[in-house]
Order: sequence, then C-alpha cells, then structure tokens
Amino acid sequence: MHHVRIAPSLLAADFGRLAEEVTAVERASADLIHIDVMDGHFVPNLTLGPVVIEAVRRVTKLPLDVHLMIEEPERWVDAYAKAGADILHVHPEACPHLHRVVQQIRHAGMQAAVVLNPATPLHVLDYVLEDLSMVLVMSVNPGFGGQSFIPSALGKIAALRRMISERGLSDVVSISVDGGIKLDNAAEVVSAGATVLVSGSGIFATPDYTLTITEMRARGTSALHRHI
Ligand code: DX5
Ligand code: ZN
Repeated sequence: MHHVRIAPSLLAADFGRLAEEVTAVERASADLIHIDVMDGHFVPNLTLGPVVIEAVRRVTKLPLDVHLMIEEPERWVDAYAKAGADILHVHPEACPHLHRVVQQIRHAGMQAAVVLNPATPLHVLDYVLEDLSMVLVMSVNPGFGGQSFIPSALGKIAALRRMISERGLSDVVSISVDGGIKLDNAAEVVSAGATVLVSGSGIFATPDYTLTITEMRARGTSALHRHI
C-alpha cells in the first residue's frame, strides 16, 4: 500500500538560516527534503549546487530529493552522489541521452527520477520507466517558487498512474508533483494518483510547519483510497 509523503522544497526556505529550516521541517515530520538546482540556462534562475547540498546532508537524516534544472546533467551526476543526494531528478529536455543518464544515476548509487514539464508528454517515459524510482510531474513551469498550480497536471498524473499500474510498476515507481501545492489541493493531486507532494511556499510561508505538513499528509491520505 502506498502512503503519502511530504517533501518541503527548500527554495522557499530562509537561506540565511538554512540549517535551522532543514532541522525544523525534519522535526515537523517531513519525509524528504526537496532541493532545486537551477543553472540560469535550462531555467531562468540560479540557485545552488553540490556544496550547499553537502551542507544540508550534514544536518539531516532525511533522503535528499535533488531536482536538477540544469543543462547537461550527465556532467554532474557523480558530484551530486558525492554530495549526498538520494534521489536525482533530470529533465528529458536537458539531456538527449536520457536512458544513459538514468543508468548513470543508478550506477552512482542513487534513485533515478524523470521530471515532466507541463507541456512534456508521458511518452518520453516509454523506454525508461522500468528504471525509475519516481516520476515528477511539474504543475508549474520550473524556475520559480510561488506560482499557481496548472490544472492540466491532474489529467497527466491520472494517465501516468494508469501507465504505471498497467506495467505492474506500482510498487516501484512513485508519482511526485511539484509546483503550487498547498493544503487546499493536496487531496486532489493524491486522488489523481500522486503520492509525493513537493511544496515550497505552501509549507515555508506558513507559521507552523508541523501543523501544515501533518495536515497536508492527512488530506492527501484521505484521498488515497481512490487509487487503482
Ligand atoms: C520550481 C521548483 C519547485 C518550487 C515549488 O521550479 O521545482 O520545487 O520550489 O515552489 P512552490 O511550492 O512555492 O510552488
Ligand atoms: Zn522542484
């Protein structure tokens, strides 16, 4: 049976107090720490890299869910493994040899994940799905926090849930959703088929992380029974 996992996105944390923020969401029962790596080319914003991830690694035991929004991710796989990433996400548009990058990630000892932008169709997964631990459905265009949820992500999540179930991969591949996730849409993304909810401002802009994370997980869990 699946369970709903909550992944606070550090992009919305106070970077001047990063270690404290990570500790706070860990204490607040977060399941994963989502870290957005942006290179100013693949997306129009620049964030952080392996050095900061290594620092985060030192202050938490939670799995680090590292979302690469960078060109040529294949050049960086080993660096992120060394920095302590557990799950490494790549965008298919950023790497022509997606299959190879996925194998590289696994050989480096991490779980591989592929991210689908709002306009990216599911069929890019056709020949790599079996090798993945997670597929991340973007519900905003990547680059910034605080944007609004794009409703067409719901149909995509549902179609992906069917694809995973038809291939007998339900216990292997998780569906994650990222962008505009808040308390009020947690139930609908889970009922569509997601089980990992990435949320930046939906958590860090609220005063009580424990209340928010607990409530988000509870609302998601209440919608779980509708899964295939
Ligand atoms: C956007 C990032 C997200 C971002 C989400 O490119 O991938 O992880 O932090 O932020 P919110 O939850 O505020 O939409
Ligand atoms: Zn992200």
